[in-house]
Amino acid sequence: MRILVLGSGAREHAIITSLLGEPERHEITAAPGNAGIAAVVPVVALDPTRKDVVSQYAIDNDIQLVVIGPEAPLVAGVADALRQRGIPVFGPGKAAAQLEGSKTFAKRVMDEAGVPTGRATRAGTLAEATEAIDEYGAPYVIKADGLAAGKGVLVTEDRDAALAHADFWLGHGAVLVEEFLAGQEVSLFLLSDGHTVLPLSPAQDYKRALDGDEGPNTGGMGAYSPLPWLPEGFVDEVIETIAVPTIRQLASEDTPFIGLLYCGLILTDRGTRVIEFNARFGDPETQVVLPRLVTPLSGLLFAAATGGLGSLPRPEFSDDVAVTVVLASEGYPEQPVTGREITGLADVVDVTVAHAATALVKGEFVATGGRVLSVVATGPDFAAARAKAYRALGTIHLEGGHYRTDIAKRVAE
Ligand code: AMP
Ligand code: GLY
Repeated sequence: MRILVLGSGAREHAIITSLLGEPERHEITAAPGNAGIAAVVPVVALDPTRKDVVSQYAIDNDIQLVVIGPEAPLVAGVADALRQRGIPVFGPGKAAAQLEGSKTFAKRVMDEAGVPTGRATRAGTLAEATEAIDEYGAPYVIKADGLAAGKGVLVTEDRDAALAHADFWLGHGAVLVEEFLAGQEVSLFLLSDGHTVLPLSPAQDYKRALDGDEGPNTGGMGAYSPLPWLPEGFVDEVIETIAVPTIRQLASEDTPFIGLLYCGLILTDRGTRVIEFNARFGDPETQVVLPRLVTPLSGLLFAAATGGLGSLPRPEFSDDVAVTVVLASEGYPEQPVTGREITGLADVVDVTVAHAATALVKGEFVATGGRVLSVVATGPDFAAARAKAYRALGTIHLEGGHYRTDIAKRVAE
């Protein structure tokens, strides 16, 4: 198949690695990609959020499937433009992508579909936010309504910090004040063709910057899959009580969800609750889910894009486990220092390295963003996979670079 992958992160690198590993040979192009992606497939320097540019490129190059990695092109309506031109695309249209693009939209859909989630109050003014903050009490959970590149959520015991966060994001739109939910978090990805959903294997993401879940929220510092501690029947329960009702609700509103429904879940002592939906593969969870996928990814994505998931069995996964650890630039997430050289990449063994923010400058890899790369290791158990991942990180050098040392530790002991 001729496949165009939109995006430039480690998630897209992992998607491409998975497609390249299939028995069927594909012609893959990435736009815009990064230096790691450019080492394995051709890249084109086009802006993935420009729907006319993307659809013209897809038509001119007889693209048979477009896979949209990040949220920005989805919210910009790139999938709609491609679909209007008859090009199969894995990724929801602008309206259904509001599930990620607007937290108040997501709460409304969950309400109407009867999906379990925490209580939340939308506030348009600081007075409304203050009232809700005092009603819910500490710990406070404040979220920007719109896309905020991982910076919109604050969970804090500090009322002044909660008010300051609300005040800042009210300058960009509404905020949500939410009930605090305690429990283990699970990321479950479901492929959807608008009507049928098929689950991938659950993963757990480490959102905080520092060991022991300390420090600020980030886009994700590491992940592992599967989750050996999940209760039996968990995936089926999520399908029945969360994914199917959500997909049905969107279909009934004439905004079918075609693509990846990312359920961000929390296992509270009163049951499973949705903390967020995303409308795309998660990063870094994709880096641990796809290496374990045995079923060819392209067939699943194409079936989702063309309404054919109903005739497919559930995707199969290997018994191997996977661990990924993210190497971040000095100062990430607040003020990442970029432009520094990354060395030692050629010397790593037993792992794959998914590039997140890299460029080649005079033949050397340099970091161009906060999350620089994801080291991915698989193995028969978590201790083995962790050992490979951390050994490789010891070989890679980035001045000021940092990573968590406790990824998947709890399941390796
Ligand atoms: P989100 O971007 O909505 O996933 O939020 C980022 C992180 O903030 C989540 O992964 C949780 O760790 C935390 N979080 C979000 N909402 C809540 C909540 N209602 N209660 C507790 N923690 C939350
Ligand atoms: N790892 C969290 C996300 O992709 O949103």
